[in-house]
Amino acid sequence: MSKKYEDDSWQERMKIKLDINNMFAKKIGGEHGYTPKDINNMQSQANDAHQAILAAKEKERLGFMELPETHQKIAAEIKKYVQANYQNYDNFVVLGIGGSALGNIALQTALNHPYYNLNEQVRDGYPRLFVPDNVDPVRLNGLLETLDLEKTLFNVISKSGGTAETMSQFLTARNLIAEKLGAEAVAEHFIATTSQDSGNLIKIAKQEGIKTYYIPENVGGRFSVLSPVGLVSAAFTGVDIEELLAGARYMAQLCDTEDLWANPAYLNATLHYLADQDGKPMSVMMPYSHSLKDIADWYRQLWAESLGKKVTREGEVVHVGPTPIKALGATDQHSQAQLYMEGPFDKVVTFLEVEEFKEQLEIGSGYDEIAGVSYLGGTTFNQLITTEKKATELALTKKERLNCTVIFPEINEFTMGQFIYMYELQTAFAGELYNIDAFNQPGVELGKEYTYGVLGREGFSEMKDEFDGRPSKDGNLII
Ligand code: PA5
Repeated sequence: MSKKYEDDSWQERMKIKLDINNMFAKKIGGEHGYTPKDINNMQSQANDAHQAILAAKEKERLGFMELPETHQKIAAEIKKYVQANYQNYDNFVVLGIGGSALGNIALQTALNHPYYNLNEQVRDGYPRLFVPDNVDPVRLNGLLETLDLEKTLFNVISKSGGTAETMSQFLTARNLIAEKLGAEAVAEHFIATTSQDSGNLIKIAKQEGIKTYYIPENVGGRFSVLSPVGLVSAAFTGVDIEELLAGARYMAQLCDTEDLWANPAYLNATLHYLADQDGKPMSVMMPYSHSLKDIADWYRQLWAESLGKKVTREGEVVHVGPTPIKALGATDQHSQAQLYMEGPFDKVVTFLEVEEFKEQLEIGSGYDEIAGVSYLGGTTFNQLITTEKKATELALTKKERLNCTVIFPEINEFTMGQFIYMYELQTAFAGELYNIDAFNQPGVELGKEYTYGVLGREGFSEMKDEFDGRPSKDGNLII
């Protein structure tokens, strides 16, 4: 039986769209808006960037571009494993951080019921999902003391296999399982998702006989949600991971052109790049759908860690990078919107709009005699949130603020797959425009190394010495 996402007309209907009207002078005025000529002037730089991406792909350096194709078989295997095992567990816990957690959270928030963990009927036998994504002792202890460990499966995810936050979570959870259920139970209660050939986690997994999924070497953490990193936890909550990959493949086809006007990932990257160059480095993502709240968080890491760089590829010091900001409509209309409307002209707002929500909810009617309340009755929350988005968009536009919209016909696996792929490619393309390496993160190493030194990791004693010798703080400045 063919699947709905293999049907061309369904695909066409589910295509996500990028509306860039309000990035142009025609709509927001000449001082801040762009002209088609500005885009055309970028085409030759875009051609070079496109060629560089193709060359890197050819050399198998851009693993994220291969996942939608190469991981079809792996997705089918994951599905099979999940179908055979999900009923044995009430809880699925992801132990990971950054790129090994944010995509998992985003998929869960987007694709499952908003109260999935609390609603047994909705879960239909699938386990609850928890992704602590931190080492806060209160939060982690709170989770571990709440779960019935006998019915819990942990997926420890770390590409490097050495991340302190993840490995400390693992050590604690592993010891708890061994203590409560016996050392032989460890294999039944853990999955490891890591590099096949390097790092400590793979060694541990082999030693413990833990089921293992692999993260391809050429896929960086923040680009890994469509690898087993994101696929396993999604499948364990009933998400159709094959449809997710199908969505990514669909977007890959749409983006298979160097023509800026035809390639949504390239065009969006170019407009944001131009805006940054013109003194608008703040890139706000504002979904008008609570389901998309955490994909904005995923985007924040992707854009920040990839593009915030000190040096160009040639080593010239440049200190570049836009600042991604997550917001939420309509909630942040009552928190951030004032700043976006009247503060400095330093932002581009990307709205995420949903045409068809999964639910339609009517607003109750009443108080006919109170006009300021009764007008709401008989309309729907769908109308309210959509109108609020369009109203905020118009208000920003009137105030000459750059903004654009990604339109989701629906939120489903296919549209999420498209969005993820589009933004990953957009990030790689932006890396080319900035002429930086979008796939490393040297800036986060120093802080990690001090931590290793202080906690006594072998090979980091010099970092401990430097840390211990740090200048003392002036007590007068702590008030
Ligand atoms: O994008 C990245 O590479 C990082 O955010 C990593 O995902 C994060 O540091 C976790 O790394 P690891 O998966 O090696 O534990």
